[in-house]
Order: sequence, then C-alpha cells, then structure tokens
Amino acid sequence: MSNKMWGGRFATGPDAIMEEINASIGFDQRLFRQDIAGSIAHATMLAETGILTTEDRDSIIAGLTEVLAEIEGGSFTFSRALEDIHMNVESRLREKIGDAAGRLHTARSRNDQVATDFKLYVRDTIDTLVVQVHTLQLALVEKAEEEAETIMPGFTHLQSAQPVTFGHHLLAYVEMLGRDAGRLLDARKRLNESPLGSAALAGTPYPIDRHMTAEKLGFDRPTANSLDAVSDRDFILETLAAASICAMHLSRFAEEMVIWSSAQFGFVRLSDKFTTGSSIMPQKRNPDAAELVRAKIGRILGALTSLIVVMKGLPLAYSKDMQEDKEVAFDALDSLSLSLAAMTGMVADMAPNRERMRVSAAAGFSTATDIADWLVRELNIPFRDAHHITGQIVALAEQKNCGLEGLTIEDFKFVDQRIDSRVHKVLTVEASVAARKSYGGTDPANVLIQAARWKTELTGEPHEPKPLGKKKHGGHGDGGVE
Ligand code: ARG
Repeated sequence: MSNKMWGGRFATGPDAIMEEINASIGFDQRLFRQDIAGSIAHATMLAETGILTTEDRDSIIAGLTEVLAEIEGGSFTFSRALEDIHMNVESRLREKIGDAAGRLHTARSRNDQVATDFKLYVRDTIDTLVVQVHTLQLALVEKAEEEAETIMPGFTHLQSAQPVTFGHHLLAYVEMLGRDAGRLLDARKRLNESPLGSAALAGTPYPIDRHMTAEKLGFDRPTANSLDAVSDRDFILETLAAASICAMHLSRFAEEMVIWSSAQFGFVRLSDKFTTGSSIMPQKRNPDAAELVRAKIGRILGALTSLIVVMKGLPLAYSKDMQEDKEVAFDALDSLSLSLAAMTGMVADMAPNRERMRVSAAAGFSTATDIADWLVRELNIPFRDAHHITGQIVALAEQKNCGLEGLTIEDFKFVDQRIDSRVHKVLTVEASVAARKSYGGTDPANVLIQAARWKTELTGEPHEPKPLGKKKHGGHGDGGVE
C-alpha cells in the first residue's frame, strides 16, 4: 500500500529497508509537544485569516488536544509507516475528526514544520540548561565562600607554582560557567525567529499571517527568507558549540576532581553518592561520576562535528540529510544536562581536606616568588636580580633539605647580605595568598567579594561579602582522606 499522506502517485509502498532508513519517528517523537503547539498556532492563524472556518479550527484544536493527552498518557501508538512525528499526529487527528484534519496542512509543509518544532525544542532545552548552569554555579559559589581561606597549591604545568585559595580555584569555574550560560543565551537570541509559513521552500500563495504564528509561539519575528528558513540548522549548531565548550569546562573540572580525590593528592573526598567500589580491590573508591563527566565531551563535540559535516555542501533548500540533525543533538543535549546535574551533586557533597591541602601548598618552595617580590619592594632590587637571588636561596634550602621557612637569617644573609629578618613574614602560605589583593587575585577577602557578587547576580538579591575568619566547619570537611 502506498503512503496515505503522500502516496498519491505511488503504485506500491516503500521497501522495508527504505522504511527503516527513512523513518524518524523512533527519535523525533520527543518533539510531540512542539509539533502540536505549532499546529494549534497554525490552525488558529488560518481561521483568523479566513483560510479555515472556525468550526474546522475548533475541531482541529480539540482533536490535537486529545492527541496530546494520548501521547502524554502513553496510549498513543506510533507508526513507522507514518515516518515522523508530524504525520503520526496528523494521521491520528484524521482518525478523530475526519476530513477537517486534512485542512490543517494548508499553507505549510513538513519542511517549515520540522524547522519550527526543532527550534522550539532547542529553545526549551536552552532554557533548562541555563537554569542548570546557574544551579551549578551557585553550588560552587557556596563552596567557595566556605573555602575562601582554605589554602591549596596553585599549579602551572601541574607543577606547584604559588599558593592559592580553594575558594578562588572554585570561582574560576563559576566564571567559565557564566560565559557558558551567556553563549547559550546568545544562541537563543539568534534562534528565535519563526520558520512557520515558509512552506516547502518558496512561501505560499495563501494570505497567511506569519507574524501572528510567530507571536503565538513566542518567537520574536518570522524568518525573512523562506529558502533559508527551511534549510537553516545554525540554531542547533550554535547550541552544540556552546554545549561543547561547557562540556569541555566540566571535563577539566572533572579531571581535577579525579586528581584531587586520589590517595596521592587526598585534597578532597567525594561522597559515597558519586563514587563506586571495586569488586576485587576492597580499598577502592572510584570517582566514576567525575570520570564520566570528563568523557561526555566526546559525544557532545561529536554531535557538533557530525552535524556540521552533514550540513556542509548541502544545496538549498531542504534535503533529507537534515533529518540526521536530531538523534545526535538530543543525545548531546541530554548528556550535557546529565553532566551538569552530576557535577552539581558532586560539588555540594565534596569534602575538602584542608590540612592536606595546606601542607601541600607549602611544599615545592611555593612562596619563592614572595621572597623575590619582598627583595624588590623592601630593598629596591630590580626584579630580574631578585629572581636570581631567590633562585640561590631555593638552591640552599634544597641543599639543606628544608623548606624556605626552615632557613635561618644567617642562611639568607649567606646568599645576600642585604636581607634582614623581616623576610620571614612573607614565607608563609597565608601571607602569600593574603598579599595577592590585586583585582581578581586569590586573597581570601577578594574571594568573598567575588562570591557575593556572583550570589547577587545568580539569585537576583543583594548579597554582602561574608566577614573573614568565619570558616564553616561542616560535615566531614576536615576529616582525613583514606
Ligand atoms: N522527518 C523529517 C525531518 O526530520 C521532516 C521533514 C520531512 N520533509 C520532507 N519533505 N520529507 O527532517
């Protein structure tokens, strides 16, 4: 039997393999809400412009509302022979209301319909993702406030560089995530034009009102070129690009969690809720959730790559190639959403081992720069020379097998006569972080100011910086890491 939706000129139905390669209902059924909302807006406009009678409009809308309830209630049977969500919905509508259903497709095509549905879906998804990003940011900001004075090693090349505060480190991710939310919202802005009414590719001879359908569906305006409207997939590409960058950030953070929670580092303990044991090694606590978040970028960036290659070289306007947009996009956006949720849970539960971090922060002559800066500041020695002198001090400490704070004033004077005992006060990691008061620096007071700024931004309510010295001793925060 030929297809009853488009099979007028076909003598037989499609080959089984054709049906399998052609059908998208297996994955595009998740567009049902957007598809029905688009059809209701379209039918309303058709009646408003006199193209459809009000009786037909009413029965179409009532029928579509029933179809929506059937799909939501799980009683709807999807048919692969009907290819996609658009024809599944329309066919069921026809069973319900008869001939009037056939008038719904006046002045539109599946080409503008699918572009509209998918845009609506991506828009909804962006809104959810932005809320999730903000939730993760808030969890990080709260941790950062608790850990504003916690000192950890700061790294470059993963070599101990200078002490930083843990709160400052966490706020670095808050900044990244802030840009991620911004990129998603930028994509949303450009996305928000309605393709509906562009019809197959050239527009339509019916006196439709595309501004009306655009407004009903929450779009800012209708698209201005029908060929572009039905063949544009920039909106999902941009969203996937923003999603990929966000997933890359999550991957970096996840990697740090994996490193920090190792026995060798022991900086944090991840909660039982986000780790697993080993079936053979009883001592193990594996950071599986962090590892999976670290990996998800693979399929998210994969979706962007896949789709940009699908779009490359496609002539105007719609081609069936574009049906390949949905599966990878759904998978990528689902994966990002799951990663954000997992990360939020891990951050909230993550218990730092402050003592371990502090000890590690002092290792590796991490306050050497502070000596050089002291020589510049107090003795007016040019920085290049101060750097050289400090190098000799480090070499001496290495020789004596002690830290910089283990050197006596005689040791310092042995390297350079001009040095006096005031140098000792810059050697501690506390002095080192507290000195970095430059805007955006790691000083605990700065951290509390930035945390308050973010809280104000994220909650919409004014927040004052917390006072210093109010470190919260919650849960197992100071507990050991086994
Ligand atoms: N299932 C199709 C897609 O996802 C809908 C558009 C089909 N249009 C067409 N002329 N065959 O792209």
